[in-house]
Amino acid sequence: MRVNGKPLRAVEWHVDSGGVQWIEQRLLPHRFQQVVSINAEDVAVAIESMQVRGAPTIGAAAAYGLALAWKQDEAHFREYWLPRFRSTRPTAVNLFHACNVMEQCAGSTPQASQMIACAQAYADAEVAANRRIGEHMANLLAVGRRSILTHCNAGWLAAVDWGTATAGIYQLAQAGESPFVWVDETRPRLQGARLTAWELSQEGVNCRIQADSAAAWMMAQGKVDAIVVGADRIAANGDVANKIGTYALSLAAREHGVPMYVAAPASTFDDHCPAGNEIPIEQRGDNEVLCVDGADGEGQVHNVRIATSGVGANNPAFDVTPYENLSAIVSEQGVWHA
Ligand code: MRU
Repeated sequence: MRVNGKPLRAVEWHVDSGGVQWIEQRLLPHRFQQVVSINAEDVAVAIESMQVRGAPTIGAAAAYGLALAWKQDEAHFREYWLPRFRSTRPTAVNLFHACNVMEQCAGSTPQASQMIACAQAYADAEVAANRRIGEHMANLLAVGRRSILTHCNAGWLAAVDWGTATAGIYQLAQAGESPFVWVDETRPRLQGARLTAWELSQEGVNCRIQADSAAAWMMAQGKVDAIVVGADRIAANGDVANKIGTYALSLAAREHGVPMYVAAPASTFDDHCPAGNEIPIEQRGDNEVLCVDGADGEGQVHNVRIATSGVGANNPAFDVTPYENLSAIVSEQGVWHA
């Protein structure tokens, strides 16, 4: 999608340097910066520290990072680099899916150029999947007033290009429709306020940021036509792990009869996980809850404390929504109704 009118991907191979290029998402929306590195370790740290985040982008970054690891240090690919990348984040299964694909690719002892081509094909397939998801989603959303609520960032920053939850919204907009999006701010890291609202604005999609706690009330007033979210892992029974707060949205949606859709590519489905209670949930640091980043009038970013000192925090990064609470799960392969 576009940044200041220029088409970009969240993560990609940087041909000139022979390295990986990604958008430093922690700086958005205050500063737009792309990072290029020729070191596999930098890519692993970028995933760990959430410079790149969102399930499909994490998977693609790992695929490119492993291509770099093969080029740099082929001898330690299996015993060091595969476990290194697999340990970067626990919940998004796309990471493990990408590592498995790269491990398989390495099985034929390829040239570095073949590993890079393998990572490129992985990322391209994710983008093609998102485009297809968007077609299905645009059909589902093409009813009513099209006030769509989304949570976290399941946009192109999170999914290499197009996004999962946002792909249908972008396709409606490009077809000349006027979708409107309620953007949940998504505490504690504010991926909605910082990233989704920024992306939508870059594409000219009309949106408004709201506190997470406003969502149920907007549904009660009939001001939400549909909810669309992404996923970090979908268990074999259809239970969905996604950003913390998704489960609460599903309860309110069910109560108020608002259709709730999950949009995710095949790489987010985990056949080996029978049900949601077996999905590992990442527990993150206290400071994400106790402090917040923001820019001053000069655009300088500061981290400030918002909570009383001496009290700890509880910070589960994801929750699990039971499949019964969902209207449908949409992937590139089709639409599965509950
Ligand atoms: O912790 P994050 O920012 O990586 O979490 C991202 C989400 O929960 C997204 O909703 C999910 O990855 C879907 S991405 C298309």
